[in-house]
Amino acid sequence: MSERIEVLLSEEEVNRRIRQIGAQISEDYAGRPVHLVCVLKGGSFFMCELAKRITVPVSLDFMSVSSYGGDTKSSGVVKIVKDLDEAISGRNVIVVEDIVDSGRTLSYLLEMLKGRGPESVRLCTLLDKPERRVVDVSVDYTGFRIPDEFVVGYGLDYDQKYRNLPYIGVVKFD
Ligand code: IMP
Ligand code: MG
Repeated sequence: MSERIEVLLSEEEVNRRIRQIGAQISEDYAGRPVHLVCVLKGGSFFMCELAKRITVPVSLDFMSVSSYGGDTKSSGVVKIVKDLDEAISGRNVIVVEDIVDSGRTLSYLLEMLKGRGPESVRLCTLLDKPERRVVDVSVDYTGFRIPDEFVVGYGLDYDQKYRNLPYIGVVKFD
């Protein structure tokens, strides 16, 4: 079986949208610094492009999580593989994700971060698959709502491949 990638969102479309979100965030947080928290690895490409488009002061941190898998997956419990380097108390945090799918990872993560006493926590995702939602999460900034298809590129992988594609594509199997 061979795979091919069909373009869903071109590099130009993605970059244009990221510029718009960056402008929106800059307006919403005018005069206040933002602390971007990237969820590795998928969120990294988006976070770099987004950070460049934000005009208020920006600081960055990274965390890595993984699902416990098996039956615990339904409980939405995720394991922190790499925690943040810095405390977030009193900061205006924006969690930057590649995609919100079932919403399990994000709902867990957002609750955990809120428990650390930040001034505010918002969620910014490049892609959203609303049809797949199992757990309700409120998304503050969304790049694109997409249909229920498996996508790659711009940080998203299939079996650790294709993260480096500068566009968003759908994996097709022939
Ligand atoms: P969930 O919202 O907890 O179900 O998990 C979202 C995570 O699953 C994302 O952060 C991605 O790592 C991964 N994921 C979900 N849908 C896709 C996809 O279409 N392509 C690649 N990764 C995906
Ligand atoms: Mg992710």
